[in-house]
Amino acid sequence: MYPQQVLEEVRTQNDIVDVISEYLPLKQKGTSYFGLCPFHNEKTPSFSVSSERQFYYCFGCGAAGNVFTFIMQMENDTFPEAVKRLADRVHMTLPEPQYTAEAKAQQQQRQRLFAMHKEAGRFFYQKLHEPMGTQARAYLQKRQIKENIQKKFGIGYAPNDRQGLYHYLQQKGFSQEELQKSGLIVERKDGKDYFDRFRNRLMFPILDIQGRVIGFGGRILAQGEPKYLNSPETLLFNKSRNLYGLNFAKNTRKREMILVEGYMDMISVYQAGFRNVAASLGTAFNQEHAKVLKKYADSVILLYDSDDAGTMAAQRAITVLVQNGFQVKVLQVPDGKDPDEFIKQNGAQAFSQLLAKAVHYITFQIQCLKKKYDLNEMTQKVAFTTQAAEILAKLENDIEKAVYITEISRMTGIAQSAIESETTKIRQKEEKTFYENAQEKRQKEFARQKTAKIISSKGILQAQRDILFLCASNFQIYQKMKEVFFSKDFLEPVYQRAYEKIAFLYEKNGTVFPAELINYFQQPEEQRMITEIFAVVSKHATAKDMEKALNEEIRKVKKANLDRLAAEAKSVEQIQQLLMEKRKADSLYITITDG
Ligand code: GTP
Ligand code: MN
Repeated sequence: MYPQQVLEEVRTQNDIVDVISEYLPLKQKGTSYFGLCPFHNEKTPSFSVSSERQFYYCFGCGAAGNVFTFIMQMENDTFPEAVKRLADRVHMTLPEPQYTAEAKAQQQQRQRLFAMHKEAGRFFYQKLHEPMGTQARAYLQKRQIKENIQKKFGIGYAPNDRQGLYHYLQQKGFSQEELQKSGLIVERKDGKDYFDRFRNRLMFPILDIQGRVIGFGGRILAQGEPKYLNSPETLLFNKSRNLYGLNFAKNTRKREMILVEGYMDMISVYQAGFRNVAASLGTAFNQEHAKVLKKYADSVILLYDSDDAGTMAAQRAITVLVQNGFQVKVLQVPDGKDPDEFIKQNGAQAFSQLLAKAVHYITFQIQCLKKKYDLNEMTQKVAFTTQAAEILAKLENDIEKAVYITEISRMTGIAQSAIESETTKIRQKEEKTFYENAQEKRQKEFARQKTAKIISSKGILQAQRDILFLCASNFQIYQKMKEVFFSKDFLEPVYQRAYEKIAFLYEKNGTVFPAELINYFQQPEEQRMITEIFAVVSKHATAKDMEKALNEEIRKVKKANLDRLAAEAKSVEQIQQLLMEKRKADSLYITITDG
């Protein structure tokens, strides 16, 4: 996100010893400093900070990294947050974060579309209050939507004009391309002209969570189809992610949301004084909706139409909501009305009483189930009870379960104990599958651990670190090495990248500074692994010993990697090829010393 040069600047301005000293006392021993490790419990100091190399390493728990890593671990910051914190510490102003040209262009397009939708909203709002909006205003009055609410929701009118909005937006300086991307304008079938998508409709701006217009829903005023026309999916509008009215509802901070099906229902419920209400926009409530809603609510009252379609939609919404950890209640408006009609007929007071009658979703599911069966018939009674037991088996709360069992027993005349044992049986079956699945996973995990163990038990990790350490500390070694050892020869992806960065840093600076190398890695675990290269170093008595050890390590790592590839190989030819390479690796030797 920030250029490396900036990261280096922030890092060098923040001496690691100074920074860490602000968190814990350090004592100097030679070029290193020691203290009690802040990342694990200890009585004798094993946490070391190298002033020379600008990193820390704990001999106790292995925590390691540069000054960014330390701040990330200490303050629970992300990498960019840590960079910001340290820049602030030395009063350095960071440049605007860098984005790719593509991301930048898209961001600009979005800004233009936001501006255009704002203009379009203004246009529709104006038209509603001009003489041509008379019929639309009368309609709003008939539906008893008060003026303050009309204003709050930005309700407008799209005139019965082929190109009214098109020309208006052109005048405001929006290009043809931008207009087409907005979905507000549609191409004529022959592709020779364009006209307004929304004509002679009551317009509901759809706002995102920050209150910006991202699309529109238009209700037809004359006869015709479709009743509601929505903006298509655009750079701004995604109907699977947006809930109508959530930008207002979130302000109630109630953590309980009433979910309705339509624009008008949402507005009516809101107008009646229940402001924690939102609508899924003519689409089934889905996982993405649930993720968005989870930020603002833990419990939901589903208030859907009581017709078949509404009941089905509620059933689907229940599944999604329960999966996402919501408490769910369901309310069905009596006499096949929708919430809007109910409020209009009976008033806010009656609606409030109705809300209190929302039932636990299990009750709703059992009610739905009951409608499908004739309980006077023996076989149907059994089928109903068996299915009801399936539903009850999902309940965690034993008291709730007991209540429902009593209820079903009352409805069917089947003994409570029989229903109870049926739910227990279902649960045991579920637990068994769960256990078996877990068992299978554990076996796979065991196999994975076994390979991991083989790799590390051969000292492969340390060998890779030694190779990297020698390459990073000595340019001559690196030059010899790069002829025979390649980044793909490392088993750890982090080390593969480290090797490539070492090459890059030699080219850039002529030398590799550990703390700078760490900058290229943003995950604390990666930063720890990179620091380890420099902190856990094998010692050799003579240069010749070192050369011998290094060559052994090169061969070891190369061969281990070839073994790993062979295990994953898909054909005999591949395996033969790998075997050949393995033989070649056996005779590999690079000379570093002159003697
Ligand atoms: P009113 O008749 O204005 O009260 O609308 P309603 O909200 O009662 O509509 P209905 O119960 O028919 O539909 C519920 C919701 O489904 C609407 O608010 C829309 O979001 C959506 N919807 C209904 N009809 C259509 C349609 O023809 N096209 C689209 N895209 N959505 C529709
Ligand atoms: Mn309605």
